[in-house]
Formats: sequence, C-alpha cells, structure tokens
Amino acid sequence: MTSVYYAPQPSPLLEMRGISKRYPGVVALDNVDFDVRAGEVHALVGENGAGKSTLMKILAGAETRDAGQILLRGQPVHIDSPQRAMDLGINIIYQEFNLVPHLSAAENIFLGREPAASIPGFIDFRRLYREAQQVMDSLGVSVDVRTEAGQLSVAHQQMVEIAKATSRNSVIIAMDEPSATLTEHELQNLFQLIRSLRERGVGIIYISHRLEEIFTIADRVTVLRDGHRIGTHPVEAMDRDTVIQMMVGRELAHSAPKRATVCGDAVLEARGLARHGVFRDVSFTVHAGEVLGIGGLVGAGRTEVARALFGADPLDAGEIRLRGKRVRIRSPRDAIRLGIGLVPEDRKTLGLILNMVVRENVTLANLDLLSLLGFVNRRREREATEQYVRSLRIRTPTVEQEVRNLSGGNQQKVVLARWLFTDSRVMIFDEPTRGIDVGAKMEIYGLINDLAARGVATIMISSELPELLAMSDRVLVMHEGRLAGALSREEATQERVMHLATGGE
Ligand SMILES: Nc1ncnc2c1ncn2[C@@H]1O[C@H](COP(=O)(O)OP(=O)(O)OP(=O)(O)O)[C@@H](O)[C@H]1O
Ligand SMILES: [Mg+2]
Repeated sequence: MTSVYYAPQPSPLLEMRGISKRYPGVVALDNVDFDVRAGEVHALVGENGAGKSTLMKILAGAETRDAGQILLRGQPVHIDSPQRAMDLGINIIYQEFNLVPHLSAAENIFLGREPAASIPGFIDFRRLYREAQQVMDSLGVSVDVRTEAGQLSVAHQQMVEIAKATSRNSVIIAMDEPSATLTEHELQNLFQLIRSLRERGVGIIYISHRLEEIFTIADRVTVLRDGHRIGTHPVEAMDRDTVIQMMVGRELAHSAPKRATVCGDAVLEARGLARHGVFRDVSFTVHAGEVLGIGGLVGAGRTEVARALFGADPLDAGEIRLRGKRVRIRSPRDAIRLGIGLVPEDRKTLGLILNMVVRENVTLANLDLLSLLGFVNRRREREATEQYVRSLRIRTPTVEQEVRNLSGGNQQKVVLARWLFTDSRVMIFDEPTRGIDVGAKMEIYGLINDLAARGVATIMISSELPELLAMSDRVLVMHEGRLAGALSREEATQERVMHLATGGE
C-alpha cells in the first residue's frame, strides 16, 4: 500500500477568522473567514452593504470587532488602532477619502513620515516634493504634488490615496474600490502597480463592483452577502454569472434595458458656454424624453459643465435656455426652482448631509416646496422614501437611520432617490452608477428610462462606455474642455467615443 504524503500548506500571510460585527439594527458581518496569501490578489465582492468595507476597517484598526481573530503569518495579532495596523505593514486605501484637504498632495502622501531637514523639527520640502513626484509619476499621473489635495479632482485625489498606501512598506494592501473614479488609462497604471506589488510578495485585497476588473486582476474571489461569506474560489473556477448569482442570490437581467424613445421638444439649450481655463464653446440641446450621454476622459470638463448648468459654478460666457426662454442660473437654488436636478459625482461634498437621516436626505430638495405650503408632510415624506428604499434596494434598518452609517453605495442611492423624488424637468446624472452594485445598476437604468418616458430631459455623464452607449440616445464627447463630437445612437461605438475622447478627429 502506498501512503499519500500531503505537504503541509504554508499558513497564509493574513487570516481573519470568525469575524463578527453588528451595529444597531444591522448585522454587518457574521462569523466571516477571510485569508490572503503572499503574492496574491484576493478580490472581495458583494452588493452594497454586504460588509466589505466593514471587514477592511476591522483589519485596519479603524473599527472594533465583536468577535473573531486576526493572524499575520500564523501569529495572532492585536490590531487596536490604525497606527498598529500600519506598524504591522497593513495599509488600506479607503473608499471614502482620508486626505487632509489643505495639505499638498506630497504632504498627504508622506503624512507622519516626512523627510527631516538638517534642522531638527523641520521638513525637507525639496526631498518631500521630489520623492512624492516620483511616486505619482510611477503611477503615470500628471499631478503637481504641491497642489493642495482639496483642489484636486476626485480621480486625482484617488491617485494620491493610492500613492499614499503603496509608497509605504506594505505586507498587506487593501484597496476599497480604488477604481471607482478612474478611467481606462489610470486603471491600467493601477493594474501594473498591483502586478509589481504582487511580484514582491505583497498580499492584495481588491474590492470593486466592476466584475471585469476582478477577472483581469484577481487570483481568488470571496463573495459576501448580507454579512455572510458565501464562498471563496480561484478566479478560474468562476465566471461573471456565477459571481453575480453568489452576490445577489438570484438571476439578473444581462444588460441595460433598451427603450423606444420618442424625443419631444427642445427643453434645455446650452449656447457657447464657457468657464475660463475649464471649458469653452459648449453648445447642445436636450429634448423631452431624451437621454443625452456625455463621454470623455477624467478632467475633460464634463463635471464642470454639469456644475455650471446647475448653478454650482459661475459661467463666464454663454447662455442657457429652458423651453426657448433665456434663464439665469446663479445658484443651485435657482436651478432647483427652474426644475433642474443634479446627481453629483462627488457625493461627499455636494450630495448628502451625513448627520441627517435617510428620509430627510431624500426629501431635502423638495423641502422648499413642502415648506412653502406651510408644513412638512412627514407621512408623505416617509412613504415616498420607503418606496425608494425598496425600489433601489437601499440597505438600511429604517428610513430614520443617519446617512453616515450607510455603506458607500447605499449613500449614493440616497442621492439618486432625492432627485427622483423631485419632479425635475431636466435631470443631470454625473456618474450615476459609480460604486453601485450590479443589481442596483439595473434598477437605476430602469429609473432613468422611466424618467425619459415621463418626458424628462436627461443628461448622463459616464466613464463606463458600455453604460453610456446602452443608455444614450445621442452621445457628446468632450476633450480638453471642448466638445470633440456628437454621435447618434447608431454611430456611437466604444472605438469612436474613445477616439474623440483622446483628441482624434
Ligand atoms: N457606523 C455604522 N453604524 C451603523 N451601521 C453601519 C455602520 N457602518 C456600516 N454599517 C452598516 O453595515 C453594513 C455593511 O456596510 P459596509 O460599509 O461594510 O458595506 P459594503 O459592502 O462596503 O458596501 P458598498 O459596496 O456600498 O461600499 C451596511 O448595512 C451599513 O449600513
Ligand atoms: Mg464599502
């Protein structure tokens, strides 16, 4: 008889065993096991509110656990603060940025470990800037590291976060939706960086709602649902459908629903809009019932045009017409009064009031209207909110939960619900599905289609080409602050949009 010898499995680099965490009314994690090997990319996926960020915060010492154990190279470790986690070589790129807005990008990258000058207590700024610039350059990002972090675009803030975590000596790096704000080019740089970290034996945890990224970069995949671990498998053993099935526990429609559009009259006309140094010569028309897509690279000026239409930034030139009548929009208040709504890209600063509850946030834009009538109708507010919580599958114990306690994707859904609740005649969506799980994306596409069917004129900015092409009746492409072209639904292909977005004729 031959005896079989099993080589002992080397213990993983990191093991999290039996991790549980509950919040009032929510079991965020229930007895979750998770491990990471040296030199692997372990993807962590699940619907909004599944518990991904909570697991990462526990690993990073930013959140306490109710039960469970963490082992590093087989040894139990006690991670009771973010500093302790960093000392152990565990670095996290948080989903919600942690940059200090009035410090430069360079100071943020080297916060707490700035190179000392020869005079004690002083920072060697020349070295700081030089080394920070090297890190950013290696990421392929053209950002002056002396710029204040608060002045940078969301995408560039994200790259500073990435630079901050990856420039440290890391054993484990967890990336909580690092790609949400990045475009294709920046994403490729990030993947290159991840591959070189992997070669150096770093264990990488990668969270993303874009499944194609998971199949490009991950070695193993763990799926969480409602705080439970559903399974862990090598990526070769899975395909898109099995991952989705595990995430949502049900079958899903495959692509954005198509609809037959009947475009009505011109609703919003932009003529020669300009903001010095940001965009110029921007003219277009959106019709009732039309979805006008705007594509382009990060920094092309799309968000800035949206903000100007909404009165959040001033215009230096041009005019806006609503149903043929010239209007002045000096503030978001003016825009709301005229029936223009904006679901912003950056939910942290423009979207939500974090210490207000879900119901108040959903009904916020309408408060003017409700209070004009002399009262706030709590019951109507609550009913409407509950309806959106159901249709958008917002994971919250009640509509009276503070928005700060919701997961990132669920906060985004609250912003959407608010604008769906207002009866705007023009809706501008800036990256409406960023950070939103696959199931809820389909719901959002359905809701945008419903708005169009009701005759709302819709502008949708999106960096996700498949979504842009599936949803838009026409696609405008911006490049360096100007309109590079307009494509009909039939003309719009990924190649054509990319060609225009990168400056091709
Ligand atoms: N401080 C808190 N207080 C109350 N509930 C919380 C708190 N933090 C998280 N939760 C809840 O725990 C659950 C898990 O949230 P978590 O942020 O881990 O989800 P996630 O998987 O990262 O989702 P997303 O994809 O939207 O980022 C959610 O229901 C969330 O509302
Ligand atoms: Mg999260």
